[in-house]
Formats: sequence, structure tokens, C-alpha cells
Amino acid sequence: MDKNSFTDTILVTGTAGFIGSAFARKWVGHESATLVSLDALTYAGHLSTLLPVISHEKHVFVQGDICDQTKVTELLNKYRPKAVLNFAAESHVDRSILGPETFIQTNVVGTMRLLECVRAYWNGLNEDAQRDFRYLQVSTDEVYGTLTPTDPPFTESTPYAPNSPYAASKAAADHLVRAWHETYGIPVVSTHCGNNYGPYQFPEKLIPLMITQALAGGDLPIYGDGMQVRDWIYVDDHVAGIAAVLKKGTVGERYNIGGFGETHNLNVVHTLCNTLDELQPRKDGLSYKTQIKFVKDRPGHDRRYAISPEKTTRDLGWKPLETFDSGLKKTIAWYLANGEWVSKVKDKGFKDWLEAQYAQRVAGQA
Ligand code: NAD
Ligand code: TYD
Repeated sequence: MDKNSFTDTILVTGTAGFIGSAFARKWVGHESATLVSLDALTYAGHLSTLLPVISHEKHVFVQGDICDQTKVTELLNKYRPKAVLNFAAESHVDRSILGPETFIQTNVVGTMRLLECVRAYWNGLNEDAQRDFRYLQVSTDEVYGTLTPTDPPFTESTPYAPNSPYAASKAAADHLVRAWHETYGIPVVSTHCGNNYGPYQFPEKLIPLMITQALAGGDLPIYGDGMQVRDWIYVDDHVAGIAAVLKKGTVGERYNIGGFGETHNLNVVHTLCNTLDELQPRKDGLSYKTQIKFVKDRPGHDRRYAISPEKTTRDLGWKPLETFDSGLKKTIAWYLANGEWVSKVKDKGFKDWLEAQYAQRVAGQA
């Protein structure tokens, strides 16, 4: 192997989490190139999430932290990837409100360290390889802040206005990625996506939390009036968008990825309860909606997200395939069939989180 070139391999961080694992499943199923996974296996990362691909011949799993420059450098030199994709992050807004520090460490410091390792590796590549190499940063629509009911959806030129510690840490990471491109010439592309849902999502986020709580007979906690709007996308549509950006995206540009799935939280939970009422009715014949409980709102709660994927659709030929209803049905069916995965990831730490997080909300209700 030429020391100044790269192989067909890609290095992907955060693959034991929800979206990274969906990307790994898609990649291993469709591409001939090897995927090297790097994941720290935090509370949100589980090998059971990566199980469908973990021992595939085109997949290598390495446990490690993106902040660990020795390990990342070793991997870059050993596998000589043609691209690095960064999914690894602390990703839950409520956890960022209770403890922002790990968000700064992984999302900001981690991204900077990863970029520094990539820079050293990229500097050693020959001119052709330097041109063809890609660093892809997986970002979010939350960096754009919040919208009023009549504002147009976020575009790639919407100014940054992050409101939560999570969104601020992702915005900071995006600025670093941009700077490493402008200053050092690293060929970067970035993606911004709306709220994802689908199989293998850790049950702290709205949709899997509501499904698993409903089935366990627990409360379905709605923050505030439940009229906050999110723009939902099925996870497989998101990862198809990322693959399109990796292959066809223009260096230095960002791409919005959205599923045309704008709806308010109460509607999400009602639709989900109606589907569960059909697929797995409660023994007492009542609707799962009777488990809904309005609780104290999240501080700094963004009222509305909406994202326009027009540029990505137009320039890259990508488009989402699922509607919110079709994706939600698939997701609920997956959770009904995969109770074993849910019990595996809902460990004691998760139960402690639920108690700490929701006890204070119920107690704080007006
Ligand atoms: P997740 O919390 O399910 O998974 C994150 C993964 O990163 C876990 O496997 C975890 O172990 C790993 N990780 C965390 N810190 C690490 C570190 N320091 N080093 C190595 N690995 C580490 O998150 P997700 O929902 O899959 O999100 C993936 C990416 O997509 C994140 O960057 C997130 O900001 C972004 N995103 C998520 C959504 C969404 O709706 N979930 C929407 C848009 C963008
Ligand atoms: P979440 O899944 O945490 O994603 P994000 O905060 O990144 O958008 O939450 C989605 C929406 O659901 C958000 O408006 C907060 C709300 N929500 C609840 O009403 N109750 C809950 O228990 C959770 C986790 C979220």
C-alpha cells in the first residue's frame, strides 16, 4: 500500500448509536468497501444495536473515544480510510440541560481532536488522494434555533442561533469543521437533519420513550402544552441522504436533510397511541392515550423546527421515501417485535435517569 494514498475503507464514529448503526447497516449491505467503526460505548451506545453487522467480513469494530488522539491516529494509519464520518456525539437535549460538560467534551473537544488527527493524516496524502478524501460531519437542524409558526423552514443559509447546550455544542463543532476547511484545506461536507425516528433508537427520545412507556403501563409525559413542532424523518431516509452527500456533495458545503414530517408533539403521541391501540390493544380495552400526562416544560424549549431539504434533493437527487405515518408504523412494529433489545438497553442507569428526569417535572407541574 502506497503510504501517500488511501484504501477504499471508511472510518465511521458513533456506530453503536441509533443513526450511526443505521448507516453501518446500510453501508455493509450495499457497498463493497470496509467500514471501520469507532465508538466509546457510552450509555447510548450498545453492541446489541450494531449486532446485525458486527461480525460481517466488511466491518471492523473498535471501542474508543474520539477524544483519544493516539487511538484515532493509529486507526487512520492502519486502515488508511478514504473518508471519516463523525456521528459520535452526546445527543439528548434534556441531558445537556442537566449536565452540559460531557456535551462540550465529546461534541466540541472530540470534534476538534478528530479534525486534528484527520489533518495530520490528510497532510501526508498525495495530491490526488488529498483531493478525493472527505471528512463528513453529521449535524442537526437544532443549530438554526427556533421558528415561529409562520417562518419559512430552515435552509442552508439560515443563521445559527442554538438555544440548548446540546445545540450550542453541535454549532461549535460545525464552526470548527468549517474553520478546518477554510484554514487547513481539509475537504469537508456537513449534513443537518431534523428529528429522526426508527428502529434501535435509545428509549430516552420522544418516540421510543412513548412506545416503551405505553407498553410498560407507565406515564406518557408531554412537556408543556405539547404544541411544539418537530420535522420528523425516518432514520433510513437520513442515512441515505448522508451517503448521497458523501458521494456527491460539494466540498465546503452543507446539506439539509428533512422528511417533510412537520407535526406537533401531541399529534405524534396521539398517532402513536392510535397505532398501538390497533396493533396491541390494552387488556382493559382503554386507549393508551389515557396514560398521557402533561408535565412541566423543558427550559428554553424550541417551539418549532422545520427544515427544507430542497438543495439536497435538487443537487444530489436524494429524497425521503417514508411518510411520517408509514415510518411510524414500521417503527412501532419494530419495537413490538424487539422487546429483548429494549430490555437490554434499559439498564439501571436508564431507570435512574427516568426517575431523576421525570420526578422533577411532575413535581414542578403548576
Ligand atoms: P446516539 O446518542 O443514539 O448515539 C451516539 C453514539 O456516539 C453512541 O453509540 C455513543 O456511544 C457514541 N459516542 C458518544 N460519545 C463518544 C465519544 N466521545 N467517542 C466515541 N463515541 C462516542 O445519537 P444519534 O441519535 O444516533 O445521533 C448521531 C448523530 O446524529 C449525532 O451527531 C447527533 O447530533 C446527530 N443528529 C441526531 C438527530 C436525532 O434525531 N437523533 C438528528 C440530527 C442529527
Ligand atoms: P426529543 O426526542 O428529546 O428531541 P429534540 O429535543 O432533540 O427535538 O424531543 C422531541 C420533542 O418532544 C421535544 O419538543 C420535546 C418533547 N418531549 C416531550 O414532550 N416529552 C418527553 O418525555 C420527551 C423526551 C420529549
